[in-house]
Amino acid sequence: MNWDDTTDTPAEERLVGASADREDQAVEAALRPKDLGEFIGQEKVREQLDLVLRAARARGATADHVLLSGAPGLGKTTLSMIIAAEMEAPIRITSGPAIQHAGDLAAILSSLQEGEVLFLDEIHRMSRPAEEMLYMAMEDFRVDVIVGKGPGATAIPLELPPFTLVGATTRAGLLPPPLRDRFGFTAHMEFYEPAELERVVHRSASLLDVEIDPQGAAEIAGRSRGTPRIANRLLRRVRDYAQVKADGLITQDIAAAALAVYEVDPRGLDRLDRAVLTALLKLFGGGPVGLSTLSVAVGEERETVEEVAEPFLVREGLLARTPRGRVATPAAWAHLGLTPPRSQASANGQGDLFGA
Ligand SMILES: Nc1ncnc2c1ncn2[C@@H]1O[C@H](COP(=O)(O)OP(=O)(O)OP(=O)(O)O)[C@@H](O)[C@H]1O
Ligand SMILES: [Mg+2]
Repeated sequence: MNWDDTTDTPAEERLVGASADREDQAVEAALRPKDLGEFIGQEKVREQLDLVLRAARARGATADHVLLSGAPGLGKTTLSMIIAAEMEAPIRITSGPAIQHAGDLAAILSSLQEGEVLFLDEIHRMSRPAEEMLYMAMEDFRVDVIVGKGPGATAIPLELPPFTLVGATTRAGLLPPPLRDRFGFTAHMEFYEPAELERVVHRSASLLDVEIDPQGAAEIAGRSRGTPRIANRLLRRVRDYAQVKADGLITQDIAAAALAVYEVDPRGLDRLDRAVLTALLKLFGGGPVGLSTLSVAVGEERETVEEVAEPFLVREGLLARTPRGRVATPAAWAHLGLTPPRSQASANGQGDLFGA
């Protein structure tokens, strides 16, 4: 398949893809928790952030800068809006890629109101000159606007009102340390536990006026890959199915049948994930096999297998990346209901009885 004539990446077309598609964007505003009390899970982050915000409020001060890091769909944008709401401050939303020149950032910074929250999404994708301007703005609430070029250029200092920068990144490791160090509080968001996702599903179902029983919610939560955005998306697909094929109530059976139609398996693997695992097990005896060979066998680009399918398989402990190639774990055999070949069994110290 040729992806060049579309801006969608394969990851975005997947029902279990973690980044927001157009449909998600339309409904997400309605499903976002509005304050810390409504925000489900992430106990530690919530507790710490609550202290940071309460203390700032009590001092009548602007809250410290906050860095939110974590995988797509875990609630970074949601938390940034909660921070503004809890501080009763307006919020300005922009993103690293939108800031090409330091001047773009200077324009935003100089128009902030006192106490305003500036949400900078994908902060790791900002240009270097903008980043350097941000250092000074974060630390001293000041920017130097450079006027003119060459030897005649002069820096005109510009005072800024105190503001709270909330940076979000899926790639905290890509942030230069000087930038990371300027945040007073860093929250790392973890994947959610199934019980937390059940609460997300129940909450969203009630906002969407969908009837669901506890087993139905558990079934959807278990297939949501630890990610609220995916839980909400699966809920919408299951709702469609329940409306068309049943009386609208989402039970465990309805959820399981609906998600079978969409090829999301009980562990949240989709068609691509299963194709990769199946090739690894059936064609290569569980590996090790090189990424290129595995990709050809699945009929996908190398990057698709590596960046779209593998991270979740690795996280689930179904696949391991080793120096000799990709290897399936015993859990992978069990998940696909296949029996490992004898060589694998003997590698586990069980198969010697049968000889070679
Ligand atoms: N803790 C939570 N409780 C309830 N719903 C949540 C929670 N976290 C996220 N959500 C829901 O998941 C959806 C995605 O969250 P959000 O947009 O904040 O993720 P994100 O981390 O900003 O993702 P991205 O990296 O793609 O920008 C939102 O619709 C929100 O309603
Ligand atoms: Mg976001």
